[in-house]
Amino acid sequence: MTLTAGRLLDALARSAATRYGGEIVSELEHALQCAELAREAGADEELQLACLLHDVGRFAVDQSLVSDTTERTAVGTGARGHHEVGADLLAPWVPERVAWCVRMHADAKRYLCATEPAYVERLSSISRHTLRLQGGVMSADDAARFAAHPWLPDALALRRWDDLAKVKGTPTRSLADWAPAIRRYVP
Ligand SMILES: [Fe+2]
Repeated sequence: MTLTAGRLLDALARSAATRYGGEIVSELEHALQCAELAREAGADEELQLACLLHDVGRFAVDQSLVSDTTERTAVGTGARGHHEVGADLLAPWVPERVAWCVRMHADAKRYLCATEPAYVERLSSISRHTLRLQGGVMSADDAARFAAHPWLPDALALRRWDDLAKVKGTPTRSLADWAPAIRRYVP
């Protein structure tokens, strides 16, 4: 799919009808809550955008192309993680840091599982299920390499907001409020 702002906004709007994995919020509510948490925390616009779009590989992509799908679709050959597929979709348009944060949001979970034992306990059952599909807990060598990356704090912040953005009824800005930010990057 060639990405346009219109298609992206349509896909986000349609994701209001899809539950986020097995969680109680919709995919749209999850995206808006994640972006809102970033905004409230004073994150810059790039990181807010990464939060809004981090699951684009779930809501704007044919799920037969996704290996860690939570939907009951058959996974096709050559399928990859939703974070990889989503980051590739965004990469031509958004700043490199935004695409990197989207690409790394599963690895950030794997990293936190490796470095904060209590983190695993707080994961939802769906998130534990997808952790296995995403490669499981990160090895010590990979965690040390990941820790050296200058954008690691961004990836971890996104991940923590991602984990919190599952509360039914949380007030957020609307999708229309985010449209100008999307249109600033995607044509
Ligand atoms: Fe998410």
